Amino acid sequence: MEIKFIDLKRSYAKYGKELEEAVIQVLRSGIYLNGPFTKQIEDTLADFIGVKQAIGVSSGTEALYLILKALELPPNSYVLVPSFTFIATSEVVIRAGLVPWFVDVEEDTFGLSLENIKKAWDTLNLKGKKVSAIIVVSLFGIPARLEEISEFCKEKGIFLIEDICQALGAELKEKKVGSFGIASATSFYPTKPLSTCGDAGMVFTNSEKLAGKIRFLKEHGQTRPYYYEYHGVNGRIDEIHSAILSVKFKYFKDELKERRAIANTYYELLKDVKELTLPKPCEGAMPCWSLFTVRAKNRDELRSFLNENGIGTGIYYSYPLHLQPVYSNLGFKKGDLPVTERLAEEVISFPLYPGLKPEEIDYVVNKVKEFYSRKK
Ligand SMILES: Cc1ncc(COP(=O)(O)O)c(C=O)c1O
Repeated sequence: MEIKFIDLKRSYAKYGKELEEAVIQVLRSGIYLNGPFTKQIEDTLADFIGVKQAIGVSSGTEALYLILKALELPPNSYVLVPSFTFIATSEVVIRAGLVPWFVDVEEDTFGLSLENIKKAWDTLNLKGKKVSAIIVVSLFGIPARLEEISEFCKEKGIFLIEDICQALGAELKEKKVGSFGIASATSFYPTKPLSTCGDAGMVFTNSEKLAGKIRFLKEHGQTRPYYYEYHGVNGRIDEIHSAILSVKFKYFKDELKERRAIANTYYELLKDVKELTLPKPCEGAMPCWSLFTVRAKNRDELRSFLNENGIGTGIYYSYPLHLQPVYSNLGFKKGDLPVTERLAEEVISFPLYPGLKPEEIDYVVNKVKEFYSRKK
């Protein structure tokens, strides 16, 4: 059997015809930017997340950058970020003229822990450094400890920004992830739970002021035709992507259910494999399972074995950000963030996507079990 790690063609097979029709509609309309499909998907997703404003932009990275830029944080102030995430989370901090400071995560949820945030806060305070924001990532679609971290941010008078690039549709205590902070950023990169056929993203916020500013910033900082009050970027979403997203959103809630059902099956079938540690989302969390990631003994050997048996897997992330050459000037060294460093050696993601069949899940599980029984 051959099981791809992610197979985008399966969704396409289901509603490809509708996607093609929507794209043709845009092509024939002659409206390629700032048109009706963009307005439609912004309104739909603002409503879905439960916030007042949604702004379509060109990628998740740009969404994060625009939030930081619009907040006008003090130059060179510090922004706490996890090290166990995709580099876009920290990359935008530098681009916005701020300093990323890496914080360790907890192994159960893969998200920032309040305890580590407090430690980082104290360390920077002692050095006389000002922290202006925290970017919390709900990694793999598992809600981070957003309530506690939000309380901390309020207490300290700093901004909570949510990176929900992997977490659209996830919930914490019946509240959508992406609605806990001043603003959140999502990605519609092709492998995300709600995706387009290329790059696009969105900002969510309840602040009309912030939303208004981001709308200017994503259009080069233009506040009226050819008049610029801000240093902006070309960060719009295209109508074609918005049209694709509008079609896919019709299937999104069912696809979320399917993702959750597959994750439950993995939990049920893998719970007795003692060489694996499955994630433990915090109380009241309903992940959207953009990736199904576990901690595994002999991870690299397991991966090779699965690969030899036709099963694709992913490693997110094999090299922590605080140890990346590009951040060497920040002074982090091996051993500084022990959980992140251990996770980098232990994590492996199994196939999980709409259209994955029960017999394929069984095959993955049986091969995992076979691998460990051979090791005995
Ligand atoms: C956690 C996280 N943050 C940010 C991004 C950036 O999103 P994009 O690829 O749309 O720029 C991604 C996308 O992979 C991500 O996974």
